[in-house]
Amino acid sequence: MSVTKTSAKASAPAKIILFGEHFVVYDNPAILASIDRRIHVSVYLNKTKNINIRSDLEITDSYKSSKLKLINCKKNRELIFYPLYKLIKSILSKNNENMGIDVDIRSEIPFGIGLGSSAACCVAISGAVKSLFHEPDRQQIYSIAVESERVIHQNSSGADCYISTFGGLIYYIKNKALNKIKSPKKLSLIIVNTRIKHSTGSLVSSVKKYQSKNRILFKDLSHSAYDICQSALYAIKTGNEKRLGNLMNENHKLLQDIGVSHKKIDEIVDLCIKNGAFGAKLTGAGGGGSIIALLPKRDTNDIILEIEKNGWECMPVKIDYGGIRIY
Ligand code: MEV
Repeated sequence: MSVTKTSAKASAPAKIILFGEHFVVYDNPAILASIDRRIHVSVYLNKTKNINIRSDLEITDSYKSSKLKLINCKKNRELIFYPLYKLIKSILSKNNENMGIDVDIRSEIPFGIGLGSSAACCVAISGAVKSLFHEPDRQQIYSIAVESERVIHQNSSGADCYISTFGGLIYYIKNKALNKIKSPKKLSLIIVNTRIKHSTGSLVSSVKKYQSKNRILFKDLSHSAYDICQSALYAIKTGNEKRLGNLMNENHKLLQDIGVSHKKIDEIVDLCIKNGAFGAKLTGAGGGGSIIALLPKRDTNDIILEIEKNGWECMPVKIDYGGIRIY
């Protein structure tokens, strides 16, 4: 198929995992939401055969065939950009094309802090590049994005790409039907960044090792994670925020048990609870990254003030129901 336009733009939302991270890789359910922070991508055909990827992270990579030429990079380019190059090449080859493309990435959230920036990047690029050929449907965008995310970490449950493509608040099980959840209450959620970067791939591998060494215990923990997720689903649907907060705390304990928390994460979780949050937990892969806390609406500003007094920056977030947008 040949191109129908020479440039396209797309944006995809970042995400939080409210319940079930890591256990979702082992076919347990998870509850996720996309948030009102986005990755924006612009793609333009160029006159060469190169794929040039630039971002506001001070990284610029240029790829010709699969040879990577580093132009300017302060971070680990292989991990961040190579899967994006593979994704673009895969869309081009499915359309029998070999043209060059310039990609500009602008992110409203930092990379590597557990908010699904790499998945959102895969989703936005997949949507933008596919739209050069035809109007893509969301399922196709998701399939290509998740393939590429699996280059970043092999055992991805697909949850991050799913929520970034479709948006909203969902109950997710790997490779199964998914349900949108309706919350009668607007949840007052904040994110606190520990400022410790992590690698999702290595944390998922460390949980795999833990599971292989402690099979029976891991099974018990998975049962608890399942029960927490089911109770959380009910608490969201019935607007029981106090119960929801307690379940977040219980979920955090399970994540501590499987070794993916961090002393800074625990410090911030405790600080949030001490100052009146309904509940708090790490979100995403852990090992650093971010925590989320659910706050009583009327005390939100006071609690944020207290947390910030302790030197942590709070980011209040809303659930984004839009999913990927193609312009
Ligand atoms: C990472 O955001 C979520 C994990 O559960 C991994 C995955 O679901 O693929 C840790």
